[in-house]
Amino acid sequence: MFHAIDHPLIAEELTKLRNPECPSPEFRQRVRRIASLMAPSVTANLETIVVPCHTPLEITSGSQVAREIILVPVLRAGLGFLDGFLDLIPQASVVHIGLARNEQTLQPEPYYLKHPPVLGESEIIILDPMLATGGSAIEAVRSLRDAGARHIRFACLVAAPEGVAALEDAFPGLAIYAACLDRCLNDSGYILPGLGDAGDRLFGTCG
Ligand code: PRP
Ligand code: URA
Repeated sequence: MFHAIDHPLIAEELTKLRNPECPSPEFRQRVRRIASLMAPSVTANLETIVVPCHTPLEITSGSQVAREIILVPVLRAGLGFLDGFLDLIPQASVVHIGLARNEQTLQPEPYYLKHPPVLGESEIIILDPMLATGGSAIEAVRSLRDAGARHIRFACLVAAPEGVAALEDAFPGLAIYAACLDRCLNDSGYILPGLGDAGDRLFGTCG
């Protein structure tokens, strides 16, 4: 289930972000802002439960999100996406997963995963700005499922149609959220029009 989050403020931020002249500090701020603008849509259909709500005058019925939220940034670039979500969901826990895409084979190479012992009762939101071939996202969902996760959704900034198709094929029914669905991948597996290498632009490691 793919959801493009169509919002004028996100579209304007993304336009500025794509510009290769946008320096790392500004790039980080814009990614953070887009993440915050996306967070309400990504969490809009979370299950809730009815709880007692004490006011100064009486007790009424209130609402609580049914499951604990865990945010999972895919290292490195997912870190840039994390703070904007944490700004709106400060109570969330954070699980880190390290995946590096091999630039020759385009296959993800896992290098880190740190999670609490039990994931099955949590609402997991995987965060990665880029969904290109889909290899990294598929590996992230698979690792978390193997670790016991049952309620998973995936949020990215820019998605390629090839990556969306691969992820939907691997996990039918998985909710996928993106700020923009771009056109295609180039021969090197980069998204077009895209924004280049998100990790390098976030952390100032461009050549
Ligand atoms: C980028 C990006 C995704 C992945 C997407 O990370 O942040 O994780 O590539 O590509 P895919 O859909 O084809 O797998 P990269 O591996 O370059 O690592 P980085 O975040 O450390 O720069
Ligand atoms: N990873 C990125 O950072 N950018 C792309 O376009 C593809 C993969």
